Amino acid sequence: MNMRDAQSNPTIRLTDYQAPAWRIESVDLSFDLDVARTVVDARLTLRGSAAPGTPLVLNGEHMQLLSIRLDERELGPEEYHVDADRLTVKGVRDGSVLETQVAIEPAKNTALEGLYLSGSAESGFLLTQCEAEGFRRITYFQDRPDVLARYTVTLRADAQRFPVLLAGGNPDGEGTLDDGRHWARFVDPHPKPAYLFALVAGHLEKISQDYTTAEGRAVTLNLWAEADAIGQCDYAMDALVRSMKWDEATYGRNYDLDVFHVVATHDFNMGAMENKGLNIFNAKYLLADPQTSTDEEYRGVEAVVAHEYFHNWSGNRVTCRDWFQLSLKEGFTVFREQSFSADMNSQAIKRIEDVGTLRRRQFPEDAGPFAHPVRPAAYREINNFYTATVYEKGAELVRMLAGRLGEAGFRKGTDLYFERNDGKAATIEDFLAALGDANGLDLSKYLAWYGQAGTPRLQAEGRYDAQARQYTLTLRQHTPATPGQSDKQPVPMPVKTALFAADGRMLDLRMPGEAEAGAPERVLEVDGAEQTFVFEDIDTAPIPSLLRGFSAPAILECDYAPEQLAVLLRHDIDGYNRWEAGQQLASRAFDGLHDGDDDSALATWTEALGALFDDTDLDPALLAELLTPPGETELSERVDAYDPQAVHDARRRMQQALADTMGAKALKARYDMLHAQRGVDLSGPAQARRRLKRRVLELLCLADAEVACTLARDQYAQASDMSDRLAALRCLLRLGGTAGDEAAADFRQRFDGQPLAMDKWFASQAAVPGEDALARVQGLMGDAAFTLRNPNRVNSLLGSFARMNPTGFHRADGEGYRFLTAQLAELDALNPQVAARLATAFNGWRQLEPGRREHAHQALAELSAKGGHSPNLGEIIDRALQG
Ligand code: TRP
Ligand code: ZN
Repeated sequence: MNMRDAQSNPTIRLTDYQAPAWRIESVDLSFDLDVARTVVDARLTLRGSAAPGTPLVLNGEHMQLLSIRLDERELGPEEYHVDADRLTVKGVRDGSVLETQVAIEPAKNTALEGLYLSGSAESGFLLTQCEAEGFRRITYFQDRPDVLARYTVTLRADAQRFPVLLAGGNPDGEGTLDDGRHWARFVDPHPKPAYLFALVAGHLEKISQDYTTAEGRAVTLNLWAEADAIGQCDYAMDALVRSMKWDEATYGRNYDLDVFHVVATHDFNMGAMENKGLNIFNAKYLLADPQTSTDEEYRGVEAVVAHEYFHNWSGNRVTCRDWFQLSLKEGFTVFREQSFSADMNSQAIKRIEDVGTLRRRQFPEDAGPFAHPVRPAAYREINNFYTATVYEKGAELVRMLAGRLGEAGFRKGTDLYFERNDGKAATIEDFLAALGDANGLDLSKYLAWYGQAGTPRLQAEGRYDAQARQYTLTLRQHTPATPGQSDKQPVPMPVKTALFAADGRMLDLRMPGEAEAGAPERVLEVDGAEQTFVFEDIDTAPIPSLLRGFSAPAILECDYAPEQLAVLLRHDIDGYNRWEAGQQLASRAFDGLHDGDDDSALATWTEALGALFDDTDLDPALLAELLTPPGETELSERVDAYDPQAVHDARRRMQQALADTMGAKALKARYDMLHAQRGVDLSGPAQARRRLKRRVLELLCLADAEVACTLARDQYAQASDMSDRLAALRCLLRLGGTAGDEAAADFRQRFDGQPLAMDKWFASQAAVPGEDALARVQGLMGDAAFTLRNPNRVNSLLGSFARMNPTGFHRADGEGYRFLTAQLAELDALNPQVAARLATAFNGWRQLEPGRREHAHQALAELSAKGGHSPNLGEIIDRALQG
C-alpha cells in the first residue's frame, strides 16, 4: 500500500546536513484539476555552482511521469532515471530549465498529504497539504525547506465543478478557456519553500473584510468554507483581525500580500497550516457558533487563527534550514500565540492551561521511549516530530529567553532576527545569535536546552538561621537519562522566587551586596549543578515560592509541609502560583491515598479550597481550576508500577472528599447562582462563570447524585449553548443509567450531520471511565457517522479512548490494547500520520504494573511482527519496543 517501507526510510541526522547542490530560483506550475486525475506541469529554473556533471535529484512519489524536457529538449531514457521516490536528471547547468509533466490521483489520496479531496467525489473540493513533505506528491521538486523559490501558479478546471480556484500569492489574472473550463493565475513575490505551497478548488463560499496594515497596505481578508458552514466564520474573522493588529503592535510585523485566504476543511491531519497567503484549517479550529462550539473551542479558534497568522513571519518570511530546526518556527510561534491569547483573555488562566498541557502531554513524552530534544538529532519520519516537545517545550525555551532579555530587549532581538534572516532558511543558532547580538549578550549556553531530552529536576532545599536572620536556598538540578542520551549537562534555569511568611505576607528581599531590601520577587539564575542563594534580614522562617510563573520547564522537588503549600494556595497574589501550589498540595494528597491510607494532606487541601470556595471575589475561572486536581496521566508519573484503576480510585476519593467538604447545599447554591446568570454571552466573565458552573456540577454529582442528575437533565434540555449542553451530557454519562442514555440519544439526533458536534458526541462517550468503555467504543464504531477515513472522527473516538480514558483503555485483561492495535493496522493503510499519532498512546507502557505491561507489550509485539507498516507507524512501534 505504501510505496516506501520502513527499510527504505533511513535515519536522517542533523550532523549530515549538506546545502543543496542545486537551487530552484523560480517555479511555474500549471494544474489541470480533476478529482480522479490531475495533470501537473512544472517549469523549474535551476541555479547552482555544483561540479559539472552533478546530477539533479528531485523528490517525487505516487505520481506518473508523462514527459520531461531539459532546456527545451525532450530527454531520452538514458538522460534521466525514475525511482519510486525520486527523479534523477543528468546534464543540468546553471540557468537550466527543467519541464516535467506528471499525473496524480487526488481521490485515491487517503493519507491527506499532497493534493487530495475533501468530501465526496461529486461535490467535495480539492486542496493540498504540503508540510512537511507533501509537495513531493504533487510534482518532482527539491522538497526541502532550504530551497526557496518564486512561485507562479495557474489553475485550470471545469467552472461548474470547481467555481472557486485559489493558490497562495497575489491574483494575476483569470478567464475562461475554449473548452468551457476556466483558469486563474497567482504570483507569489516572496520566495518560499515547497512546504508552504497550497491550492484549493471547488464549491466554497466566502466572507470578506478589508484591512489596512500599520504600514498602509490594503489587504482583502477572505475566509472560505462550504455553504453549510460559512455562517460560522465570523468569529474567526474577528480573531484574525485581532491577531494582525497584535503582531503589528507587539512585534512590528505587517502582512505582506494583497490578499489573505483562510479555508476550512473537515478532512485534515492536524490543526491548521500556515501556507503562504492561503492558510488551510481543520474546521474544528475555524468554525464557531454557540450551538455547536464550547467556550474552550472558541478560545481554540482564536489561538489557532493567531498561530497560523503569526507564522507568516515566524516560519514563512524566515523559514527553517532543515526539519531539525522545526522548533525555530513552531516553538517561537506557539510562544507568540500564548502571549497573544493571554493579552486577549486572562494571563493567569492562559498560563495555567499552557502549563497543564505541557505536563499532560510533553512531560510524559520526555519521560518515555520517544523522548527527544526540542531540536532532535535524528529522525526516520519527520511527521512524527510534530510533537509537544518541539511545540510546547520549544515555546517554554523562547519564553525563558524572552524573560532573560526583558520586553524591550526581546523586541530588539526579534527585530534583528527578522531583519537578518528575511527570505532565508535559518537555524536555532541564528535565532540565539540575533537575540544575543541585539543585546550584547552571548546566549549560546541556551543551546543545551535545545539539544537535550528529558525534563530537568530542580531540587530546592531551604535553611533558616533565626540568629543570623538569614535564609539560605540551595538549588540543584539534574536531568534523568533518556533513551540514547545518558549524560546530561546542567542547563541555564531562571528560577523566579519569592518568600512568604506563614501568615501569607510576601517578604521584601535583600541579597548579599544590596544595601537595602528590593523587589520581593527575584530571578535566580541557576546554570550549574548546584548553587546557593542567601537572603538577609529574614525575621521569620519563610515559605519559598519557586519557579513562579513556571519560569523554567522543570519539575520542582521541594520538601514542603502540606500546610506551607496551603499558605501559598490561599495567599499568593499571582493566580498561576496559587494554582501551582494547589496542584502540588493535591499531588501530596494523592500520594497519601495511593501509597497508603494517609489523608492528612488531603484534609489540608480540601480545607484550603473550602475557604477559597467562599471567597466570592475570586475569578470564577481561576476557582474552577483551583478546584480541579491534576489529571490521571500527571498523577500516574508519581507512582512506580502504574495501575490505572488505583490511580483513578485515589483521584476519585480526592474529589469525593472535596465535594463532601463543600457540601451538597453550598454546591447547589453556587450552581443556582451561576445558572441564573446564563444566556448566550461570549464575554470573558460569562465564560468564566460557565467554567465554574461545570466544575461545581461535577462536584455535586459526587456530593448528591440525585440532585445533580435533575439539574444536569434540565441544563441539558434547556441549554442555549454547547458549553452548557456538553457539560451536562458529560455529567449524565458519568452518572450512568437512563438519563445518560437519553441525553446521548437526543444529542445524536439533534446534531446528526454536523461533524464538529458529532465529534464531541463520540469523544464524550469514549471518555467515560471504566471497563465498559471498550464495549461502548466498539458499538460506536458501528454508528453510521463513524469512519476511519476522517482524522477528526478517529481522534474523537479512538483518540479519546486511548488517551483520555485510562481505566477504559488499560483494562486489566489487555482487551483495550488488542482492540487499538487492530485499529492501528487498518488505519495505517489509509492514513499513516494519524495512525502514528494514535499509536503514541502506547508510549507509557513500560510504566504499567506487570500484568498490564505484559499485555501491552504483547499487543505491540504482535503488531510489529505483522510488518508492512508505514515508516510513520513503524518508527513509533520500534521506539516503543526498544525504549
Ligand atoms: N505547521 C502546522 C502548524 O501550524 C502544522 C501542520 C499542519 C502539519 N498540517 C500538518 C505538520 C501536516 C505535519 C503534517 O503547526
Ligand atoms: Zn505552527
